[in-house]
Amino acid sequence: MIGVFDSGFGGLTVLRALLNKLPDYDYCYLGDNARAPYGNKSDELIYSYTIEALDFLFHQGAQLIIIACNTSSARALRKVQQNYLPSNYPDKKVLGVIIPVAEEALRHSRFGRVGVIGTKATISSQAYEVELKKQLDKKKNKNLFNFSQKDLNISVTACPLLVPLVEEGWLNNPLTKKIIRYYLRPLKRKKIDTLILGCTHYPFLLKPIRSIMGKQCRVIDTPAIVADKTADYLERHSDIKDKIGRSRQRNYFTTDDPDDFYAKGQRFLLDSLTKVFRAKLGRI
Ligand code: DGL
Repeated sequence: MIGVFDSGFGGLTVLRALLNKLPDYDYCYLGDNARAPYGNKSDELIYSYTIEALDFLFHQGAQLIIIACNTSSARALRKVQQNYLPSNYPDKKVLGVIIPVAEEALRHSRFGRVGVIGTKATISSQAYEVELKKQLDKKKNKNLFNFSQKDLNISVTACPLLVPLVEEGWLNNPLTKKIIRYYLRPLKRKKIDTLILGCTHYPFLLKPIRSIMGKQCRVIDTPAIVADKTADYLERHSDIKDKIGRSRQRNYFTTDDPDDFYAKGQRFLLDSLTKVFRAKLGRI
């Protein structure tokens, strides 16, 4: 099966895109709601929570895990791939959301003025800046972009209030729009031409974000990109692909109240959500 991990229920946006793109595979989703949000936590905590979540999903039978959470991808993924996987699960894979999204953002950018919004932990990690520069440097990407290296201009802003607003369901509230406008003001001033939504929750605010940024700015649709890149990855890695079951099984786990997860998950995201189970991780 394919495991999908997020700090909470926001990663269902990524799961939904995966189910659309690759419906035949078996999936297992884990939301660490009891310990969310991750976005304001230390590296150490984010790493240890991520490891516990990955252990859980591997024990459920995952061959490949997508870390849908940007904070976890930014703060823990590198260490996971360098240390944890080789010594614990050498034949399994864990992928994050930052590389595919950075690559796609550069492809769409006309002038190299790219903006990134995310949680405090994601923004302060500079993970998107590092990845955007890396992708631009890659030889294989040489003639792929419309601008040169020296034109790359990255602007970032942490938007810590947006996750709680989405969790509260304040998607169309005028106050939410005001707060988004406030956060996006510096990016608008920089005249960015591409915006990365570097957080699982922001796709819910796509409409107001698009209307505030205007037609000159392309807003990148993270879940769809992650789904496309996962499909691509599986095509290139038949060793992993062939081990993933294809009986359309879907299992949902949360570390907090399953009924609450079910209600929120169904209301906001996934009509096809089935029974949610409680996962026990670490000391919770
Ligand atoms: N899932 C987190 C992310 O994408 C947002 C919620 C949190 O802070 O835990 O960064």
